[in-house]
Amino acid sequence: MPKKVHFIAGLSATLTIATFFLSTVIVEFFGSHEAVAALKALIVMPGLFILVPAIAATGASGFVMAKSRKGRLVEAKKRRMPFIAANGLLIMIPCAIFLSRWAAAGAFDATFYAVQALELLVGAVNLTLMGMNIRDGMAMSGRLRANPTMAR
Ligand code: HEM
Repeated sequence: MPKKVHFIAGLSATLTIATFFLSTVIVEFFGSHEAVAALKALIVMPGLFILVPAIAATGASGFVMAKSRKGRLVEAKKRRMPFIAANGLLIMIPCAIFLSRWAAAGAFDATFYAVQALELLVGAVNLTLMGMNIRDGMAMSGRLRANPTMAR
């Protein structure tokens, strides 16, 4: 059960962030200010209400399964998780709320774009860390063949 929850929650969380990231880049380049404001509002609601429980469920189910696992892969995943959570809670969520409010007010100024750049940067870092956790998780579960140079 925790394994199924972990798989679905982990992939959902990663795909959610990838969707936020790609849709932001596309709408910032090709969309109107109204389209940007609409997307920023959708990222907060329902976006964050999908992402936050998905990340929490991924971390919780991961740590439950990790109790009976040892090795480099599981240790690496454990070490990455606090960074993923802190980036999400302390940077990406406040950025998303700020951007939604600022865009709704039509304030597309330097502050808006600085916060947008920070959100994209931290989003890319989190996508990388989550991708590494998927790779190591799938190597552990046998869905992906482990790198033979890595101790399991
Ligand atoms: C956002 C972070 C994470 C993502 C995206 C993620 C993703 C995944 C995925 C896709 C799998 C493969 C599951 C399967 O093939 O059924 C997996 C397996 C696993 N993950 Fe994570 N994971 C994350 C965080 C964690 C954390 C923090 C831990 C705790 C140390 C953890 C522990 C495990 C374990 C032990 C497995 C192997 C399950 C088995 O025995 O087959 N994961 N993970």
